[in-house]
Amino acid sequence: MTILDTGVKIVRNVGRFTFGDGAVSGVADLVASKRSAETPHAIFLIDDYFKNEYYTASSLGAKPTDAVHFVSTVNEPTTQSIDELVAVLQKSGHKTPATIVGFGGGITLDTAKAVSNLLTNGGLAAEYQGWDLVRVPGVHKIGVPTISGTGSEATRTCVMTNIETGLKLGMNSDFTVFDHVVLDPSLTRTVPRNQYFFTGMDAYIHCIEALAGSYRNAIGDAYSRETVNLCRNVFLSNDMMADERRSDLMVASYLGGCAIATSYVGVIHPFSAALSVVFGLHHCVANCIVLDALGEFYPEAHTEFRKMIELQKVELPRGVCANLTDDLRAALIAATIKHEKPLTNALGSNFRATLTDTRIISLFEKM
Ligand SMILES: [Fe+2]
Repeated sequence: MTILDTGVKIVRNVGRFTFGDGAVSGVADLVASKRSAETPHAIFLIDDYFKNEYYTASSLGAKPTDAVHFVSTVNEPTTQSIDELVAVLQKSGHKTPATIVGFGGGITLDTAKAVSNLLTNGGLAAEYQGWDLVRVPGVHKIGVPTISGTGSEATRTCVMTNIETGLKLGMNSDFTVFDHVVLDPSLTRTVPRNQYFFTGMDAYIHCIEALAGSYRNAIGDAYSRETVNLCRNVFLSNDMMADERRSDLMVASYLGGCAIATSYVGVIHPFSAALSVVFGLHHCVANCIVLDALGEFYPEAHTEFRKMIELQKVELPRGVCANLTDDLRAALIAATIKHEKPLTNALGSNFRATLTDTRIISLFEKM
């Protein structure tokens, strides 16, 4: 295999982070330290999983004059949903907040990053889908993940789908990186088991794809190797949700996010993105469905994945591509092959020679 340069020359990591059980109790002080006479209010974007826990916002330091918004996790963010949220916040007088706190899973964290960029840059979310299009730093932002795996807390992107164009792409920018991340493993204690598994596997899948690819970066590789080791600790153990395993997975998620900043994914993410765009499946469960069907590309990871899913007694949705119509087949092919960089990373620039329409569809039909 020829090793290719990722082209990533300068890497920005999260500004500061706090780690450990109970770390979340420091968020209120962090928020208070950002308030000033000019910017007295803060924005809290909270995963709607916590909607009925009325004390969540106040425990994070929210005051009655702040904006508290619960982020729906039924659908992944769209450029349209982000624009609507920004408009609501601006109309309610929160154009220049002291800070934005994102508290939740990848959807909520990505929403916080996108809103932060839009409040200072203006315009519409779709204008910033791509690489280095964000012109000025966003509002100060604090990320608090409550589930581990996507690495959203560490990355320089916030994934959004433009429902008009079907483009699923984030605002890849140094300005998208959180200023402060609070990693508190005690927050993941109540995550439903299936969701915990699927989301955690996102970190594993990012890194096995990166380590199998042609675009390599020595620091990214080191992050990826340790992420895979930590995921093995978690998912090959008898209890993936034991206290120490949840701590391992939170570290894996963070390191996996750092890894992806310097490398590219492979074949799994493009197929997974197609399942999300065409059928609305969530990213992490879609990844697992795809890895389960793509053993021919990643034989070792596939065997390990099967061992993990059986050990943890997690059930994978079946038959998601049963009853494909011609239109759906065309949509799945188009949504897969548009991810040229990851496919080149995995299969070379001539990836269409091996990844023919017929082969793509036969892989989807296994899912
Ligand atoms: Fe991912």
